[in-house]
Amino acid sequence: MTEISCSSMPTAPPDPVIGAACRQIVQSVQDGLCPVVQSFFDRQTHTVSHVAFDPDSKQAAVIDCVLDYDAASGRTSTGNAAMIVEWVRQNGLSVQWLIETHVHADHLSAAPWVHGQLGGTLMIGEHIRTVQNTFGDIFNEGDSFARDGSQFGRLIGDGEGFALGRIPAMTLHVPGHTPADMAFIIGNTVFIGDTLFMPDYGTARADFPGGDARTLYRSIRRLLSLPAESRLFLCHDYKPPHRDHFAWETTVAAQRAHNIHVHDGVDEESFVAMREARDATLDLPDLIIPSVQVNMRGGRLPEPEKNGVRYLKVPVNLL
Ligand SMILES: [Fe+2]
Repeated sequence: MTEISCSSMPTAPPDPVIGAACRQIVQSVQDGLCPVVQSFFDRQTHTVSHVAFDPDSKQAAVIDCVLDYDAASGRTSTGNAAMIVEWVRQNGLSVQWLIETHVHADHLSAAPWVHGQLGGTLMIGEHIRTVQNTFGDIFNEGDSFARDGSQFGRLIGDGEGFALGRIPAMTLHVPGHTPADMAFIIGNTVFIGDTLFMPDYGTARADFPGGDARTLYRSIRRLLSLPAESRLFLCHDYKPPHRDHFAWETTVAAQRAHNIHVHDGVDEESFVAMREARDATLDLPDLIIPSVQVNMRGGRLPEPEKNGVRYLKVPVNLL
């Protein structure tokens, strides 16, 4: 393990939560309390799911698992999630946490199905309530759709601590892509959701309802205040043309030196102008309409109608 320290930061910690995160990362490396990570890549949605586990206690977290969805037929299936479940079982792990870094707009969450197989507590950022309000209105959900985050087992806020087995863990609120994005720092390893992509691909979009490029820049600067050698795991990789393989692990140092959108020296105004111009050219994700309706319910489908069938809505000429 490379030696790391808070002195690798360019300036004093900008806020107490960053200071605490920095101390956790340094201490975890010193104490040898760092997770092992196995990642699973879904080529259809370019999503990376991760299993992080404490090698001593065998306690595991399953992060951003994918439920397969065929939009033409409206059928779900569990091929991706079953691979994760099988891997967890083969390695004798016990699932302590099911983590969603945010309400994804490009794939459906398999968390409820994985929970049925392996247990665990479903955790998401506390600002999920804001996302539920926004999309509850967009989909004209009635009173039966609770907007208080009660579909999740634990709502977690900025700087709150938790543990994965013996490994200390905490969160950073990193809004911008959505209002509720959280980074989950487990030992020295940070699951950064949709904030940064690989250095050669840049950053997440910030144009979904509730998104904001300026807020995203500030969240990214927080992440980049962590120790240089902190391990960063991504939620997606789209592989630029010059790279011949998909990738999802990087470091703070690599991002600060090489990220094409937000390396050191790129100021807030330049980033916002670039991000907003780029977002204006992007199509919405193919699965945004089904994904959001399911994921804002903690990965559950809407309740069945009187005929026993579950339906998803399509808002026409709205998004
Ligand atoms: Fe996302």
